[in-house]
Amino acid sequence: MRVNVVKRAKKLLTPALGWDTELVVRRARGAEVETKGGKKFLDFSCGTATTNIGHCHPKVVSAAKHQINNLVHAGGVYFYDSIVKVAEELKAITPGAIDMFFFSNSGAEAIEGAMKLAKSVTHRPAILSFRGAFHGRTLGCVSISSSNVKYRKNYEPLLSSVYRAPFANCYRCPYGQHRDSCAFECIQFIRDVFKHEVHPEQTAAIIFEPVQGEGGYIVPPSEFIKFLRDFSREHGIMLIADEVQTGFGRTGKWFACDHFGIEPDIIVMAKGIASGFPLSALGAPTKIMKQWAPGAHGTTFGGNPVSCAASVATIKAIREEKMLENCQKLSTEAFSRLQKMKNDNPLVGDVRGLGFMIGVEFVDRDGGPNPEATEKVLNQCLEAGLILISCGVSGNVIRFIPPLNITREQLHRGLDIFETSLQAVAEEELGVAHA
Ligand SMILES: Cc1ncc(COP(=O)(O)O)c(C=O)c1O
Repeated sequence: MRVNVVKRAKKLLTPALGWDTELVVRRARGAEVETKGGKKFLDFSCGTATTNIGHCHPKVVSAAKHQINNLVHAGGVYFYDSIVKVAEELKAITPGAIDMFFFSNSGAEAIEGAMKLAKSVTHRPAILSFRGAFHGRTLGCVSISSSNVKYRKNYEPLLSSVYRAPFANCYRCPYGQHRDSCAFECIQFIRDVFKHEVHPEQTAAIIFEPVQGEGGYIVPPSEFIKFLRDFSREHGIMLIADEVQTGFGRTGKWFACDHFGIEPDIIVMAKGIASGFPLSALGAPTKIMKQWAPGAHGTTFGGNPVSCAASVATIKAIREEKMLENCQKLSTEAFSRLQKMKNDNPLVGDVRGLGFMIGVEFVDRDGGPNPEATEKVLNQCLEAGLILISCGVSGNVIRFIPPLNITREQLHRGLDIFETSLQAVAEEELGVAHA
């Protein structure tokens, strides 16, 4: 007898790898996935913020098929069109003077490359990263990540000369302050790190996510980001923006840095770059990149011809089908409905985000994290046909990351399911009936 896929997977695949659901999907199109049993689900997870233009977009599928028929692998031995085309497209959409790229396969790999580039160019050892950051799972990336201690446990010793500062989290301010009356203690902390712990002249890079992802969908005030830009420029430190999750229209602009009006020295991209084909990139202005000596970095599979073709098609589709505009317009509607749910429902402590990178934080009666209620809402949504995933150190933030080209009907259908599930869980947890 044919045993269920999940059972077989659990016997064969390491438990280290977690899965958000036990759905077995046989096909997916746009904002929907269909299970082997024929049930359809709205996918507001986008395979963890990756299928930004929906599953199997016809233009991406066609570009990939065409490329597969001609050249699948080059391994750094010969040149091919698609890698140059995607670099040209990236040059046009990345902030400011960024005009030269290195392609790899995953977000973590590109982050490793960015750290190596910063060290190589500055000849300095130290890196500053932020509490709550998630940059990937290689040992180098784990060293600069602190979204959750489970990613670090048993892996010490990690990279040395990594320093950390709290991120500007205005909902749960580490200093107990409020945004309208604070003195930017978070900025002062960073200044103090450079006074007490590591000299700016010894620091290769400050690495940050413009909106923290895994850490809980935290949008910092623009003053914080501007400080990072100014301070790093003043001291010759490379500012690395990890746009792995925030990039490719996720926040309603090509990159989240565009919201803050800053240009990083190095930008890191992955996830939505090629609609699910494995591809990542780091980009920097030529004057920085040309200081990276030939042979100082490399790859066999990075910049795969098929992934590059899929990426070119993805970028063109976002532009041609006005997906940034669609995201901006519909995100306003999503925010206003979610804000109303927050006002009506004590389980929701905060609604925040940019574009279609929206986090809904669940709280208990005292305002503390409420992962139990979060889990119940996720399960009820799944039962009713909506896939959502969580984030945050306590697992109490639900992320809304639908495709940028979702229709209004699909978006509101998903929000209806969420609202109904939220009300049911609130009644169960708090005994409160909501209108
Ligand atoms: C902000 C950020 N950086 C880096 C990564 C690592 O990317 P990958 O899983 O492709 O290695 C992730 C993955 O979730 C991420 O969200």
